[in-house]
Amino acid sequence: MFHVISIRDFSRDDIERVLERAREMEEVYETGDDRLEGKILCTLFFAPSTRTRLSFESAMLRLGGDVISMVGKEAASTAKGENLADTVRTVQHYCDVIVLRHPKEGAARLAAEYSSVPVINAGDGANQHPTQTLLDLYTIVKEKGRIEGLRVGVLGDLKYARTVHSLVQALAEFGARIYLISPPELRIPEHVRVDIEGKAEVTETEDVTEVLPELDVLYVTRIQREMFPDPEEFEKVKGSYKITRRMIEEYADDDLVILHPLPRVDEIEPDVDELPQARYFDQVRNGVVVRMALLDLILNG
Ligand code: CP
Repeated sequence: MFHVISIRDFSRDDIERVLERAREMEEVYETGDDRLEGKILCTLFFAPSTRTRLSFESAMLRLGGDVISMVGKEAASTAKGENLADTVRTVQHYCDVIVLRHPKEGAARLAAEYSSVPVINAGDGANQHPTQTLLDLYTIVKEKGRIEGLRVGVLGDLKYARTVHSLVQALAEFGARIYLISPPELRIPEHVRVDIEGKAEVTETEDVTEVLPELDVLYVTRIQREMFPDPEEFEKVKGSYKITRRMIEEYADDDLVILHPLPRVDEIEPDVDELPQARYFDQVRNGVVVRMALLDLILNG
Protein backbone atom coordinates (compact mmCIF):
# COMPACT_ATOMS: atom_id res chain seq x y z
CA MET A 1 0.00 0.00 0.00
CA PHE A 2 1.18 3.49 -0.93
CA HIS A 3 1.09 5.68 2.22
CA VAL A 4 2.62 9.17 2.00
CA ILE A 5 4.06 9.84 5.47
CA SER A 6 7.51 11.43 5.06
CA ILE A 7 9.48 12.77 2.11
CA ARG A 8 12.25 10.43 3.29
CA ASP A 9 10.13 7.48 2.18
CA PHE A 10 10.42 8.74 -1.42
CA SER A 11 13.40 7.89 -3.61
CA ARG A 12 14.52 10.44 -6.18
CA ASP A 13 12.84 8.24 -8.84
CA ASP A 14 9.57 8.26 -6.87
CA ILE A 15 9.64 12.06 -6.72
CA GLU A 16 10.43 12.32 -10.45
CA ARG A 17 7.43 10.06 -11.14
CA VAL A 18 5.09 12.34 -9.16
CA LEU A 19 6.45 15.44 -10.91
CA GLU A 20 6.04 13.80 -14.31
CA ARG A 21 2.43 12.83 -13.55
CA ALA A 22 1.80 16.38 -12.28
CA ARG A 23 2.95 17.77 -15.64
CA GLU A 24 0.37 15.50 -17.31
CA MET A 25 -2.26 16.88 -14.92
CA GLU A 26 -1.84 20.48 -16.09
CA GLU A 27 -4.32 19.85 -18.90
CA VAL A 28 -6.69 17.79 -16.74
CA TYR A 29 -6.72 20.67 -14.24
CA GLU A 30 -8.47 22.74 -16.95
CA THR A 31 -10.76 20.09 -18.45
CA GLY A 32 -11.37 17.68 -15.55
CA ASP A 33 -11.90 13.97 -16.17
CA ASP A 34 -13.46 10.93 -14.49
CA ARG A 35 -10.48 8.66 -13.81
CA LEU A 36 -11.29 8.53 -10.05
CA GLU A 37 -15.04 8.13 -10.45
CA GLY A 38 -16.42 5.93 -7.66
CA LYS A 39 -13.47 6.67 -5.34
CA ILE A 40 -13.88 8.61 -2.09
CA LEU A 41 -11.31 10.84 -0.41
CA CYS A 42 -11.67 11.60 3.31
CA THR A 43 -9.99 14.73 4.62
CA LEU A 44 -9.46 14.31 8.36
CA PHE A 45 -8.12 17.59 9.72
CA PHE A 46 -7.43 17.96 13.43
CA ALA A 47 -5.50 21.22 12.87
CA PRO A 48 -6.28 24.33 10.80
CA SER A 49 -5.68 24.45 7.05
CA THR A 50 -6.86 26.35 4.01
CA ARG A 51 -4.61 25.21 1.15
CA THR A 52 -3.82 21.60 1.91
CA ARG A 53 -7.36 20.49 2.63
CA LEU A 54 -9.09 22.46 -0.11
CA SER A 55 -6.48 21.65 -2.75
CA PHE A 56 -6.79 17.91 -2.03
CA GLU A 57 -10.57 18.21 -2.25
CA SER A 58 -10.33 20.25 -5.46
CA ALA A 59 -7.91 17.68 -6.90
CA MET A 60 -10.25 14.78 -6.12
CA LEU A 61 -13.28 16.55 -7.59
CA ARG A 62 -11.36 17.47 -10.77
CA LEU A 63 -10.59 13.76 -11.25
CA GLY A 64 -14.22 12.73 -10.89
CA GLY A 65 -13.99 11.39 -7.33
CA ASP A 66 -16.00 12.30 -4.25
CA VAL A 67 -14.97 13.89 -0.95
CA ILE A 68 -16.03 13.48 2.66
CA SER A 69 -14.50 15.69 5.30
CA MET A 70 -14.13 16.07 9.04
CA VAL A 71 -12.60 19.31 10.26
CA GLY A 72 -11.61 20.19 13.82
CA LYS A 73 -11.38 17.81 16.76
CA GLU A 74 -14.49 19.36 18.33
CA ALA A 75 -16.56 18.11 15.36
CA ALA A 76 -15.30 14.53 15.72
CA SER A 77 -15.85 11.87 18.33
CA THR A 78 -12.30 12.70 19.40
CA ALA A 79 -14.09 15.28 21.58
CA LYS A 80 -15.74 12.32 23.36
CA GLY A 81 -12.37 10.69 24.00
CA GLU A 82 -11.95 8.48 20.90
CA ASN A 83 -8.31 7.89 20.03
CA LEU A 84 -6.77 8.33 16.58
CA ALA A 85 -6.34 4.61 15.97
CA ASP A 86 -10.06 3.96 16.49
CA THR A 87 -11.01 6.96 14.35
CA VAL A 88 -8.89 5.63 11.49
CA ARG A 89 -10.21 2.07 11.91
CA THR A 90 -13.67 3.57 11.48
CA VAL A 91 -13.06 6.07 8.69
CA GLN A 92 -11.24 3.46 6.53
CA HIS A 93 -14.63 1.85 5.86
CA TYR A 94 -16.03 5.09 4.42
CA CYS A 95 -13.34 5.97 1.88
CA ASP A 96 -10.50 4.84 -0.42
CA VAL A 97 -7.84 7.25 0.85
CA ILE A 98 -7.38 9.38 3.99
CA VAL A 99 -5.64 12.77 4.07
CA LEU A 100 -4.72 13.51 7.69
CA ARG A 101 -3.52 16.69 9.39
CA HIS A 102 -2.75 16.37 13.08
CA PRO A 103 -0.97 18.55 15.66
CA LYS A 104 1.11 15.64 17.00
CA GLU A 105 4.35 14.49 15.38
CA GLY A 106 4.10 10.86 14.28
CA ALA A 107 0.30 10.88 14.03
CA ALA A 108 0.29 10.05 10.31
CA ARG A 109 2.68 7.13 10.79
CA LEU A 110 0.46 5.78 13.56
CA ALA A 111 -2.68 6.23 11.44
CA ALA A 112 -1.05 4.30 8.58
CA GLU A 113 -0.42 1.37 10.93
CA TYR A 114 -4.14 1.07 11.62
CA SER A 115 -5.53 1.90 8.18
CA SER A 116 -6.54 -0.51 5.44
CA VAL A 117 -6.58 2.38 2.95
CA PRO A 118 -3.67 4.70 2.02
CA VAL A 119 -2.94 7.56 4.45
CA ILE A 120 -1.47 10.84 3.20
CA ASN A 121 0.27 13.02 5.78
CA ALA A 122 -1.02 16.59 5.38
CA GLY A 123 1.25 17.82 8.20
CA ASP A 124 2.00 16.25 11.60
CA GLY A 125 3.12 18.81 14.16
CA ALA A 126 6.55 20.22 13.37
CA ASN A 127 7.62 16.97 11.73
CA GLN A 128 6.80 16.56 8.03
CA HIS A 129 4.60 17.95 5.25
CA PRO A 130 5.60 15.76 2.31
CA THR A 131 2.94 16.86 -0.20
CA GLN A 132 3.95 20.50 0.36
CA THR A 133 7.51 19.47 -0.52
CA LEU A 134 6.35 17.75 -3.71
CA LEU A 135 4.54 20.90 -4.82
CA ASP A 136 7.54 23.06 -3.83
CA LEU A 137 9.84 20.86 -5.94
CA TYR A 138 7.36 20.93 -8.81
CA THR A 139 7.26 24.74 -8.65
CA ILE A 140 11.05 25.03 -8.57
CA VAL A 141 11.43 22.76 -11.60
CA LYS A 142 8.64 24.59 -13.44
CA GLU A 143 10.29 27.95 -12.76
CA LYS A 144 13.95 27.01 -13.07
CA GLY A 145 13.96 23.85 -15.20
CA ARG A 146 15.99 21.87 -12.63
CA ILE A 147 16.91 21.55 -8.95
CA GLU A 148 20.48 20.26 -9.17
CA GLY A 149 23.02 23.03 -8.66
CA LEU A 150 20.46 25.67 -7.69
CA ARG A 151 21.20 27.94 -4.74
CA VAL A 152 18.13 27.78 -2.53
CA GLY A 153 17.72 29.97 0.54
CA VAL A 154 15.27 28.87 3.22
CA LEU A 155 14.35 31.76 5.49
CA GLY A 156 12.57 32.01 8.80
CA ASP A 157 11.32 29.55 11.35
CA LEU A 158 13.55 26.62 10.51
CA LYS A 159 13.06 25.13 13.98
CA TYR A 160 9.34 24.35 13.88
CA ALA A 161 8.48 24.55 10.14
CA ARG A 162 7.59 21.06 8.93
CA THR A 163 7.57 22.41 5.36
CA VAL A 164 11.27 23.22 5.77
CA HIS A 165 12.17 19.91 7.40
CA SER A 166 10.67 18.05 4.45
CA LEU A 167 11.95 20.42 1.76
CA VAL A 168 15.64 20.62 2.71
CA GLN A 169 15.90 16.83 2.78
CA ALA A 170 14.57 16.62 -0.79
CA LEU A 171 16.71 19.55 -1.97
CA ALA A 172 19.79 17.81 -0.59
CA GLU A 173 18.88 14.59 -2.44
CA PHE A 174 18.51 16.56 -5.67
CA GLY A 175 21.90 18.30 -5.33
CA ALA A 176 20.82 21.86 -4.52
CA ARG A 177 23.08 24.16 -2.50
CA ILE A 178 21.16 25.13 0.65
CA TYR A 179 21.30 28.41 2.59
CA LEU A 180 19.69 28.23 6.04
CA ILE A 181 18.70 31.77 7.05
CA SER A 182 17.12 32.30 10.47
CA PRO A 183 17.38 34.11 13.79
CA PRO A 184 19.63 32.10 16.14
CA GLU A 185 16.61 31.00 18.22
CA LEU A 186 14.97 29.42 15.16
CA ARG A 187 17.89 27.44 13.73
CA ILE A 188 17.08 24.15 12.03
CA PRO A 189 17.12 21.12 14.39
CA GLU A 190 20.55 19.54 14.67
CA HIS A 191 19.44 16.14 13.34
CA VAL A 192 18.03 17.71 10.15
CA ARG A 193 21.16 19.83 9.60
CA VAL A 194 23.51 16.88 10.10
CA ASP A 195 21.41 14.81 7.70
CA ILE A 196 21.53 17.35 4.86
CA GLU A 197 25.18 18.35 5.42
CA GLY A 198 26.14 14.80 4.50
CA LYS A 199 24.54 15.27 1.08
CA ALA A 200 24.65 18.96 0.16
CA GLU A 201 26.67 22.13 0.55
CA VAL A 202 25.03 24.05 3.41
CA THR A 203 25.56 27.67 4.52
CA GLU A 204 24.01 29.10 7.71
CA THR A 205 23.45 32.82 8.26
CA GLU A 206 21.19 35.22 10.17
CA ASP A 207 21.25 37.96 7.52
CA VAL A 208 19.23 37.40 4.37
CA THR A 209 20.77 40.38 2.54
CA GLU A 210 24.19 38.77 2.90
CA VAL A 211 23.20 35.84 0.66
CA LEU A 212 20.29 37.26 -1.36
CA PRO A 213 22.45 38.24 -4.38
CA GLU A 214 23.61 34.61 -4.73
CA LEU A 215 20.19 32.95 -4.57
CA ASP A 216 18.15 31.36 -7.37
CA VAL A 217 15.23 30.59 -5.03
CA LEU A 218 14.20 32.17 -1.72
CA TYR A 219 11.74 30.08 0.30
CA VAL A 220 10.21 32.21 3.06
CA THR A 221 8.35 30.82 6.06
CA ARG A 222 6.13 32.34 8.71
CA ILE A 223 6.99 32.29 12.42
CA GLN A 224 4.30 29.88 13.58
CA ARG A 225 2.95 31.18 16.86
CA GLU A 226 0.92 28.00 17.34
CA MET A 227 4.02 25.75 17.28
CA PHE A 228 5.83 27.49 20.17
CA PRO A 229 5.53 25.61 23.46
CA ASP A 230 6.43 28.83 25.31
CA PRO A 231 4.68 32.15 24.36
CA GLU A 232 7.70 34.09 25.68
CA GLU A 233 9.91 32.31 23.16
CA PHE A 234 7.54 33.50 20.40
CA GLU A 235 7.53 37.10 21.69
CA LYS A 236 11.34 37.19 21.48
CA VAL A 237 11.45 36.33 17.77
CA LYS A 238 8.21 37.66 16.29
CA GLY A 239 8.77 40.18 13.51
CA SER A 240 12.50 39.43 13.51
CA TYR A 241 12.74 39.28 9.69
CA LYS A 242 10.77 40.74 6.81
CA ILE A 243 11.19 40.65 3.04
CA THR A 244 10.59 44.10 1.61
CA ARG A 245 10.31 45.37 -1.93
CA ARG A 246 13.36 47.58 -1.44
CA MET A 247 15.40 44.59 -0.28
CA ILE A 248 14.49 42.55 -3.37
CA GLU A 249 15.12 45.46 -5.75
CA GLU A 250 18.46 46.25 -4.14
CA TYR A 251 19.94 42.81 -3.52
CA ALA A 252 18.16 40.10 -5.52
CA ASP A 253 18.78 38.82 -9.01
CA ASP A 254 16.00 39.53 -11.55
CA ASP A 255 15.61 35.75 -11.97
CA LEU A 256 15.15 35.05 -8.27
CA VAL A 257 12.02 33.02 -7.50
CA ILE A 258 10.36 33.81 -4.15
CA LEU A 259 8.25 30.99 -2.72
CA HIS A 260 6.26 30.63 0.50
CA PRO A 261 4.12 27.68 1.63
CA LEU A 262 1.59 30.23 3.00
CA PRO A 263 -0.21 31.45 5.02
CA ARG A 264 1.80 34.66 5.10
CA VAL A 265 1.48 36.98 8.09
CA ASP A 266 4.04 39.82 8.05
CA GLU A 267 7.24 38.22 6.79
CA ILE A 268 6.71 39.32 3.16
CA GLU A 269 5.37 42.84 2.68
CA PRO A 270 2.29 42.92 0.42
CA ASP A 271 3.93 45.13 -2.22
CA VAL A 272 6.46 42.35 -2.91
CA ASP A 273 3.52 40.47 -4.48
CA GLU A 274 3.66 42.77 -7.51
CA LEU A 275 7.31 41.94 -8.26
CA PRO A 276 8.05 39.40 -11.02
CA GLN A 277 10.06 37.35 -8.52
CA ALA A 278 6.98 36.63 -6.35
CA ARG A 279 5.63 33.18 -7.27
CA TYR A 280 3.86 32.03 -4.10
CA PHE A 281 0.37 32.23 -5.53
CA ASP A 282 1.47 30.22 -8.62
CA GLN A 283 2.82 27.75 -6.09
CA VAL A 284 -0.71 27.43 -4.65
CA ARG A 285 -2.09 26.43 -8.07
CA ASN A 286 0.73 23.92 -8.50
CA GLY A 287 -0.45 22.31 -5.28
CA VAL A 288 -3.61 21.17 -7.02
CA VAL A 289 -1.91 19.47 -9.98
CA VAL A 290 0.62 17.78 -7.70
CA ARG A 291 -2.14 16.45 -5.45
CA MET A 292 -4.10 15.31 -8.52
CA ALA A 293 -0.97 13.41 -9.57
CA LEU A 294 -0.56 11.82 -6.13
CA LEU A 295 -4.19 10.73 -5.90
CA ASP A 296 -4.02 9.26 -9.41
CA LEU A 297 -0.80 7.36 -8.62
CA ILE A 298 -2.16 6.09 -5.31
CA LEU A 299 -5.63 5.09 -6.46
CA ASN A 300 -4.94 4.13 -10.10
CA GLY A 301 -1.29 3.08 -9.93
N1 CP B 1 0.91 25.35 3.12
C1 CP B 1 -0.03 24.87 3.95
O1 CP B 1 0.10 23.79 4.52
O2 CP B 1 -1.13 25.68 4.09
P1 CP B 1 -2.40 25.35 4.98
O3 CP B 1 -1.95 25.30 6.42
O4 CP B 1 -3.37 26.46 4.70
O5 CP B 1 -2.92 24.00 4.55
